[in-house]
Amino acid sequence: MPVRSLTSPANDFPAIRGKHHQRVDGRDKVTGAARYAGDVALPGMLHAVLVQATTAHAHIQAIHAGLARSAPGVAAVFTGATLTSPASFSARDGQQWSAIQPPPEAFTANFPAERRAPFADAEVHYYGQHVALVVARTLLEAQAAAALVQVDYQPLQATLTLEPALPGAYQPQQFATNSEEKLTSSRGTPPVAPYAQVARQYRTPVVHHNPLEPSATVASWAGDALTLHESTRWVQGSQRIIAHMLSVAPEKVHVVSPFVGGAFGSKGFLWQHSALAAHAARVLGRPVKLLLTRAQMFTSTGHRPETIQDVVLSASADGSLCGTEHHTLCDTSPVGHFVEPCGMTTRNLYRTPFARIGHTVAPIHRATPCFMRAPGESSGMFALETAVDELAETLNLDPVLIRLRNDTLTDHSEERPFSSRHLGECLERGAALFGWKQRSPAPRSMRRDGKLVGWGVASAAYPARRSPATVEATVTADGWAVFRAATHEIGCGTATVMQQVAADALGWPADRVRFLLGDSSYPEAPVAGASMTVATVSPAVDAAAQQLRRAIIAAAARDLASPLFGSPGGQVQLRDGVLSLGSGSAARESATDVLARLPGRQLHCRSRAQSGPRAKTDYTFHSFGAHFAEVTWEPATMQLRVTRWVSVMDCGRVLNPATSRSQIQGGILFGLGMALLEKTIYDPATGAPLNDNLAEYHLPTCRDIPDFTVDFIEHPDFRLNPLGVRGIGEIGITGAPAALANAVYHATGLRLRELPLTVDKLLAAGL
Ligand code: MOS
Repeated sequence: MPVRSLTSPANDFPAIRGKHHQRVDGRDKVTGAARYAGDVALPGMLHAVLVQATTAHAHIQAIHAGLARSAPGVAAVFTGATLTSPASFSARDGQQWSAIQPPPEAFTANFPAERRAPFADAEVHYYGQHVALVVARTLLEAQAAAALVQVDYQPLQATLTLEPALPGAYQPQQFATNSEEKLTSSRGTPPVAPYAQVARQYRTPVVHHNPLEPSATVASWAGDALTLHESTRWVQGSQRIIAHMLSVAPEKVHVVSPFVGGAFGSKGFLWQHSALAAHAARVLGRPVKLLLTRAQMFTSTGHRPETIQDVVLSASADGSLCGTEHHTLCDTSPVGHFVEPCGMTTRNLYRTPFARIGHTVAPIHRATPCFMRAPGESSGMFALETAVDELAETLNLDPVLIRLRNDTLTDHSEERPFSSRHLGECLERGAALFGWKQRSPAPRSMRRDGKLVGWGVASAAYPARRSPATVEATVTADGWAVFRAATHEIGCGTATVMQQVAADALGWPADRVRFLLGDSSYPEAPVAGASMTVATVSPAVDAAAQQLRRAIIAAAARDLASPLFGSPGGQVQLRDGVLSLGSGSAARESATDVLARLPGRQLHCRSRAQSGPRAKTDYTFHSFGAHFAEVTWEPATMQLRVTRWVSVMDCGRVLNPATSRSQIQGGILFGLGMALLEKTIYDPATGAPLNDNLAEYHLPTCRDIPDFTVDFIEHPDFRLNPLGVRGIGEIGITGAPAALANAVYHATGLRLRELPLTVDKLLAAGL
């Protein structure tokens, strides 16, 4: 494969290249010192508990809250304003609720925020919809009172599955506002009588995020100013949304989220419970805490939607694709929009002269879905990369070879080059590390210790995105360099790698650099999503640190008391906090001594990094990778195990080998869960999620972790940013379910096209 030659980096990155940095917050996390939103306790704080609809579609005739209102410790029971039976709620509550607005349109058009305000109408649109909020002195009192609230429903016809909803379905054209990513596209003409064709339908079920930390909100008001401690990976988005919903100026809202215990998508938005808590706190004049239960995480913070995907691949005898079609049907709720963009990567992963992509969204009476780690690619590449395996088999071609044959350096959906693409190198290197040459192609042909062994491969791919961000930095005479941005620590190691970047660019000891995040009052940064944090924030950190370094050097050069007085700026180095003229010169001074002689004993700067508009139109920015999976099937015990995994990733420069490897492994385990275990089961009568707990909703555990090899080929992408870094948070899951499905087929000879690939399905298929 041709490899692009790249220019050398602007920095030499001593801290990044030279050391293996441990997480700066690791100790706080394992000792319990890290404070999450739900840990916040404020004086006089009340506790709120949600009352939720127990049916999927109904008219609310009455809410009987009298018993709850008079229960011990209860401060208030909030219900809707527009109910048909006014006797059952107080007019005062109705007045109050009219103060809550629906989220701004920008957050409901292409984001999964619900289009209605909480309690806005007397209709239940999905099981688990919030119908009342009970606030009491203690959590136990609130729970007890919530159980006393009675709701009278007049049932309405509910649509709980996708196919019957088709008459009301629609075809959204854009994935997100201002996005270039067109959901419907077509290029070329359909192949006539291709040598080979596979046309298959694949299905993926609803799955839920299940972060370790369920969502929590603590709202407190001081006059007309709100502080919200919130489990969110978007402090400034939450700030804007809640300000709008509560009709206060955004400057009056302060959102704090220093640690997020897993996000994956569900914590990317402001969900309705947060607005309810903030409103209750305002009405009651006391702080209010609302913790979602694990079960409520299955109704109130989104899910990965169910999909039915039709894929058609056509090829000539040598495996070259001549046609690709990918049509997706997925669910949304009647009161919010989300589309799982399954076909986006199908547009440009391989060279194909004909491509037709479409997405159809069917509103059903189920809560609104949302982004979940690698939205689109996770579900979509299960279908595409399984279909590629099926095509390879039809053509009697090796599954690695067919992918190499269709590799390209051009994004044919836009007819422009990828900024840096090395999929072929990932596949070849992964095959070598895995020992792919030893594979015998026929299913059920490999055995070890009485078990059937299967080997599967799939490509990985995820867009590389970048947004504008601003960083503020202060360096003080006491030796600390403190950087701030309104980005987030969702567990990926953001604070750690930003500290490394800052230390390198400033020339400062890394253990005297702090990077503060998770606060809406810090300089602008986007949602910690779409795998864009490192590519977005590190250039701003780098720029701010370099600006500070130049300022320190300039201060020394104009300072009569400094041994470096009068030195030309270009000749002074700052390394590890020490200024010098380089080796051989005796003139050197600690930067803190220079700072101590400055009037404020410190220097401060602020730097904004743009997202690079020119580059956006010249190139497609994308990361790539290859997964190789081994599974074993033991007939005697009916155990399907994932035993070995090799991934090779092309994600630009790697800032921290340990956190990067963790991201990829975590993504793969996410994909393992999706492929083999996870499915939310809904009651066909009520639409209730039945396995809304971690005992019955099966997630991978330590026992499921295979022998991992994760390798990065590290071609820095300087077209995306000066550090050459691309995001890494989501690509690990992409392709992983297909690699497993292909390995399961190779082991068993059974091609299942509906996730999860559970043992009961394998047995039913004849294993
Ligand atoms: Mo990802 S769920 O698009 O941050």
